Amino acid sequence: MKNKIEELEKNRKTSLLGGGERKLDEQHQKGKLSARERLNLLLDTDSFQEWDRFAVHESHNFGMQEKKVWGDGVVTGYGQIHGRLIYTFSHDFTVFGGSLGERFAQKICKIMDAALQNGAPVVGLNDSGGARIQEGVVSLGGYAEIFWRNTRLSGVTPQISMILGPCAGGAVYSPAITDFIIMVDKISHMFITGPEVIKAVTNEEVSFESLGGSRTHSEKSGVAHFTAETEEEAFQLCRTLLSYLPSNNLEDPPSLKPEDDPERKERTLNEIIPENPNKPYDAKEVIKRITDHGDFLEVQPAYAKNMVIGFARLDGKPVGIVANNPSVLAGTLDIAASIKAARFVRFCDCFNIPLVTFVDVPGFLPGTEQEYGGIIKHGAKLLYAFAEATVPKVTVILRKAYGGAYDVMCSKHIRADANFAWPSAEIAVMGPQAAIQIIFKKELEKAPDSEKRKLELVENYVEKFASPYAAAARGYLDDILTPSETRPVLIKTLSSLQGKRETKPPRKHGNIPL
Ligand code: HXC
Repeated sequence: MKNKIEELEKNRKTSLLGGGERKLDEQHQKGKLSARERLNLLLDTDSFQEWDRFAVHESHNFGMQEKKVWGDGVVTGYGQIHGRLIYTFSHDFTVFGGSLGERFAQKICKIMDAALQNGAPVVGLNDSGGARIQEGVVSLGGYAEIFWRNTRLSGVTPQISMILGPCAGGAVYSPAITDFIIMVDKISHMFITGPEVIKAVTNEEVSFESLGGSRTHSEKSGVAHFTAETEEEAFQLCRTLLSYLPSNNLEDPPSLKPEDDPERKERTLNEIIPENPNKPYDAKEVIKRITDHGDFLEVQPAYAKNMVIGFARLDGKPVGIVANNPSVLAGTLDIAASIKAARFVRFCDCFNIPLVTFVDVPGFLPGTEQEYGGIIKHGAKLLYAFAEATVPKVTVILRKAYGGAYDVMCSKHIRADANFAWPSAEIAVMGPQAAIQIIFKKELEKAPDSEKRKLELVENYVEKFASPYAAAARGYLDDILTPSETRPVLIKTLSSLQGKRETKPPRKHGNIPL
């Protein structure tokens, strides 16, 4: 037995080396950490239990039978983050470039099945050359098995993808189905077809970085939810993100012991809205003055900045925040903002995270670019997402809530549970200038001094509509708040909604306008 135990230990040691010392050095020279170093940074100390460390492939193509590496290029297993169970896999680029073959895929599927069975999140660390060319269609089948499981897990346990190297071709679709993608500056690259194929097919020249680097996906495509400067920062980000999330859809998100005073009144909020209704201000400043300790984990901060989304805590309990940001595009709703917020709302609804919505929206962004791009169906996504969400929903209108955007931004009519407004709220079909031009068009054409008349009419319209009182009179608002009391009122309201139960009509699933 002694010999056998010694042999096991020796084999374990060998398996830790993946593709070998030279390949590990190459990985470090590229500025990347190894698969196992990454797991150490992701998980609580000594919590990792590896599975399938002695798995090997069975390929005989292109001399592969001579090249068997224990683990087959992916480290899989489970561990803990903040003491909670997490399933994880970490591609090992030192073994066949982290490429995915049959056994590799089976290993990932095994931990995904366990995550589903045991109700725990999956964090995938991706660094791979894609489908293992030597294994042919078996690799493609392996990918599809993972995609299928990603879809099964969606809405059951949180799934997070960390991109820590190349992620190309169809391989991008597993991360794309997961809930969040974290990229690292300079080392992460995601694309469907690489620069060489693009050059061959379209004659377009583009660099690796500009095609699929972290900036591209955080600013232009919106594929990435978070970017970090370093891998270390990325793992911290992942751990912080998980601290807001429940382990599965049957649990509530984890509360922290509240330390920030729930009764705290933030008087500076009373001055945050500019006197001039056309002057911008930063919605994030409002959010940070209301949340516990001013903490706010913003999701997709560099994409569709006219919409702010992210996680915060109120009295220790996680909430998902959605806010128009008047400092970008005047806070209008456009295609990108609608899609960004819609997916976030659905994520929060999947995982029992209450939604707090701050509204300051002058309407949808006008223009042919938006219309041709399908703002009708994309804007409808956000409307649908808010309407179908059954988590507690609380809305505060800070200033403008005009037109369809008023309805969309979690209005009472699409079943927000509590709706508030600040006294600065303006709730109407459209802004005063545009409204006057339409309803008094003929009168203004004939008026001897049309500018003067227009001013009078605008003043009258503002008096009538540019306030929250018409909506409050009809019960569309539950109360009008002094801005400074927003935090205590939100906390009280969310507490009253903790037992919320809402049933839906029986159906297979709805048909969100995708
Ligand atoms: C088998 C692969 C591989 C692959 C890389 N390697 N990709 N082996 N199948 N897909 C091997 C290399 O042969 C090399 O082996 C080692 O990994 C390291 O690769 P290098 O090229 O030396 O590394 P680097 O210069 O860093 O370039 C990394 C790379 C490049 C950008 C990922 O290797 C590359 O372009 N690979 C192919 C990417 C690709 O087109 N994959 C298919 C995508 S389509 P040795 O033995 O020399 O060390 C796809 C479809 C998925 O994945 C479909 C799902 C439905």
